[in-house]
Amino acid sequence: MLILGIESSCDDTSVALLDCSQNGCFVIKQTTASQIGIHKKYGGVVPELAGRAHAEKIIVLLEKILKNQPHPDVIAITSGPGLITGLLVGVESARALSYIKKIPLVAVNHIAGHIHSVQISPRDQKPNKIIYPALSLVVSGGHTELIYIPKQGRYQKLGATLDDAAGECFDKTAQLINLPYPGGPRISSLAKNGNARAIDFPRPMLNQDNYNFSFSGLKTSALYYRQKNPQFNPADFCASLQQAIIDVLVGKTIKAVRQYRPKSLLVVGGVSANPLLRQTIQKQLRQFNLQTNCFLPAKKYCMDNASMIAVAGYYQAKNKRFTPWRKLKADPGWAIA
Ligand code: KG4
Ligand code: ZN
Repeated sequence: MLILGIESSCDDTSVALLDCSQNGCFVIKQTTASQIGIHKKYGGVVPELAGRAHAEKIIVLLEKILKNQPHPDVIAITSGPGLITGLLVGVESARALSYIKKIPLVAVNHIAGHIHSVQISPRDQKPNKIIYPALSLVVSGGHTELIYIPKQGRYQKLGATLDDAAGECFDKTAQLINLPYPGGPRISSLAKNGNARAIDFPRPMLNQDNYNFSFSGLKTSALYYRQKNPQFNPADFCASLQQAIIDVLVGKTIKAVRQYRPKSLLVVGGVSANPLLRQTIQKQLRQFNLQTNCFLPAKKYCMDNASMIAVAGYYQAKNKRFTPWRKLKADPGWAIA
């Protein structure tokens, strides 16, 4: 099944063409226009500017991806959650294409897309086979959630952040020390030369008996530390902050693994590109002797991309969960569970 994926929920306009079958989902082509250059000077995504940039790029990208390719069998489109300004551009383009070319549509939840990102295969690689039940830690600029997946396509939210997302905490604290947006990759690279025990930042909610998170207090502690210590060491600051975030993410995830005993753990979203998070979670699974296979997306597919939307769309299409173009709507608050 040839799937055209379209993603425009935040600051990446991305389209991809995937060849999906029971043997796996293989990327034929993906092309993405990042808006980082536009939002950088504001320290975060500006919705109005994001919508305009998506509108400028989407047709160009669709034209590029569909050139000299056979007709897709299905269009998989992110219809939520996300910024309404971006979602509308993707959704309206998908509706128009579906109507004109008579291609069926599937409406994909952006979080389900991230969860399926571990199943994207480059041409020369054997696809990952997820065994259920699974558990997913979704960590990005907009989300921090622990989701239990008893079987393919069924989602049960165990907990989520009560305020800022983990990626947002990276981005906002990076701003405090004048690092450009997005701050996560900058903090993780500066942290390599720092001492993670230099500053004792709090580990919010780590010892609470639930699966929720909170990162706004950590951000405030970082601000106070910065104000009280004008001569601070940036590498130590980054290493200590990163360690605090990772301790909370890994601590809560391992606790959920020990309680729910999933066969697979899927760590996904932009923050899953963080090397310390990747290493620590795998190390702790081994240390506790938990018989859970950990799956991580290829680095290229941690951030928002259209291939992950195409993979999630493939599973929906297989189950005939289509949405007629007349009924498709952007849904900025679409909760996965
Ligand atoms: O999934 P994504 O592209 O967009 C959302 O759906 O939010 O995630 C972007 C987030 C940003 O907050 C960025 O700082 C964070 O992922 N990020 C990282 C790293 N790479 C990206 N955070 C920590 N360490 C990284 N290496
Ligand atoms: Zn995302």
